[in-house]
Amino acid sequence: MKLEIVRTVKEIRDQVLEIKAKGKTVALVPTMGGLHDGHLSLIKKAKEVADYVVVSIFINPKQFNNPSDLETYPSNEKADLKNIEHLGADIAFIPSVKEVYPDKFATDVKVTAGIDILCDAHRPGHFDGVATVVTKLFLQVGADFACFGEKDYQQLFIIKRLVADLNIPIKIISAPTVREKDGLAMSSRNARLSKSDRKIAPQLQQAMQAIKDEIHSGISIEKACDNAWKSLDSFTVEYLEVRCGEKMVLMDKPSEGCRLFAAAWLGGVRLIDNIEI
Ligand code: PAJ
Repeated sequence: MKLEIVRTVKEIRDQVLEIKAKGKTVALVPTMGGLHDGHLSLIKKAKEVADYVVVSIFINPKQFNNPSDLETYPSNEKADLKNIEHLGADIAFIPSVKEVYPDKFATDVKVTAGIDILCDAHRPGHFDGVATVVTKLFLQVGADFACFGEKDYQQLFIIKRLVADLNIPIKIISAPTVREKDGLAMSSRNARLSKSDRKIAPQLQQAMQAIKDEIHSGISIEKACDNAWKSLDSFTVEYLEVRCGEKMVLMDKPSEGCRLFAAAWLGGVRLIDNIEI
């Protein structure tokens, strides 16, 4: 099937209803475009779980708390469509801002668990914007499955909560973080790193691995994080924390399923990452 490009809510609803009437399943991959191999891994996963795949591309103004971040967010619809088509996705849903937030729009979805910590502590309101748009996308598309990356682990946690709390009939599928060869977690914002910062950027992931190794050798979480924080002298570190991957509570001792979360600025670009400990 050739890739269909759909720009209105009515059209995406009609198309998905038509697919479901044939007894087929649909998976949604929500994105903000600037697609890289991390996004593409989600499309591949979506193809494994469902008969049809919808990829949404929408740079959601509500989740940006910094206007220049929104203005400079990488966008290349032509290249994105080529990638989506190449992977065999069926529909690209690319609504305009007016289509998603028409005049008089006045509703926000606010998740109250998993917030006030990590990214939310540094980007207040960001996850309300994410929760609002993701809820809308789920209701607009009506897919059976939606795929999200572990790269944005707190986002994944919040989305699982909102689906359970609002009884949205969709199954959330997660996929591991895809990395560059040098270990840097792929991100649309990496394109904004200067050439020299791009060389330094993998140090964040290396410092995280060092924390993991130190913790496994018996050094305390606090000391290991402190050592890594000091070693990251080219970065402005926002947080380096070990939390339980299930409940997101802070851990002072390692245990099964706990994860190390990091966010750091490098030359005006905010990098986030997380790994299992
Ligand atoms: P965006 O940053 O475009 O990411 C879209 C999806 O790709 C998210 O599920 C994200 O976790 C996943 N992703 C990003 N980098 C990845 C990587 N290196 N490996 C694996 N998956 C990766 O996240 C958003 O957009 C938005 O907040 C959105 C959910 C679309 C709501 O606007």
